[in-house]
Amino acid sequence: MDHVFSSSALHITLILLTICKGISGSKFTIINRCDYTVWPGILSNAGSTPLDSTGFELPQGGSRSFQAPPNWSGRFWGRTGCTFDPNTGTGTCITGDCSSNQIECNGKNANPPATLAEFTVGSGVKDFYDVSLVDGYNLPMIVEPNGGSGSCLSTGCMTDLNQQCPAELRVESGQACKSACEAFGSPEYCCSGAYGAPDTCKPSVYSEMFKTACPRSYSYAYDDATSTFTCTGADYVITFCPSSTSQKSARDTTPPASTANGAETGSGSGDGPIGIDTSWLPNFLTGDSPSAFPCWAWQFTLIFSTLPCLFLFLVYL
Ligand SMILES: *[C@@H]1O[C@H](CO)[C@@H](O)[C@H](O)[C@H]1NC(C)=O
Repeated sequence: MDHVFSSSALHITLILLTICKGISGSKFTIINRCDYTVWPGILSNAGSTPLDSTGFELPQGGSRSFQAPPNWSGRFWGRTGCTFDPNTGTGTCITGDCSSNQIECNGKNANPPATLAEFTVGSGVKDFYDVSLVDGYNLPMIVEPNGGSGSCLSTGCMTDLNQQCPAELRVESGQACKSACEAFGSPEYCCSGAYGAPDTCKPSVYSEMFKTACPRSYSYAYDDATSTFTCTGADYVITFCPSSTSQKSARDTTPPASTANGAETGSGSGDGPIGIDTSWLPNFLTGDSPSAFPCWAWQFTLIFSTLPCLFLFLVYL
């Protein structure tokens, strides 16, 4: 009996070690609440391992998750109005296009204007994240940390800035709004040359318009103080058009209920189990990485699943 008990204890310890060792990096879940298809683009910074995709189709209501390794840094954005030839796969997007001429961006960056979600994942230290309108705006997007410790505030832009975009910044299609730097190219708007420092580059009427509409977003290059956020050990939910189905304010720090569901619906299949909250299930059942299911929860589950064995052990003693 002693032998049975100690071997099961060893077994449990090994399981716990395996699972807890796997907790590293951050899981990113991208959700499309727009009433149109979005083609997210992902660019990993130089030196970061690329994620499983660099660009894919995300239908209305769809979601897809990615595991990023510790120290990963890069950006996410949404492309809109894309058409890709079903036979050759080639095509372009009206906004956020990455000039890859394909659904995957393959290391290519978003062409402005595009709302950007930027991340630097820590490794036992703080993650840094922001939503930037420095390269303009194309669609509403928020970033919400899930779990993690520290201030961990949500950030982004709930407002449809395309509706408020001044004529001189509007793109032809009306589906995006340029930054003043892109529209006019002058050093005072681009924070370049003589304006290349925080004390010389000040907000402009344009960046202030962006900032008023989206107080937590980067509105110009030196907007760091109110636009960069930190959290340690979190997963992140990136939602396009967050207010389409939710009245949550950008001040809220808890993600909407359905964003707890990180189940991957896969590229191109939008009818995933959004709305079915599977977050209470152990991750091996939902196919998620272990990092979404905290260590204490595993320990809790395993300790309670061992109780019947312990009971039998005592009965037979
Ligand atoms: C992450 O970066 C830090 C600082 O550069 C380094 O000490 C650490 O080993 C890195 N972690 C991983 C898992 O690469």
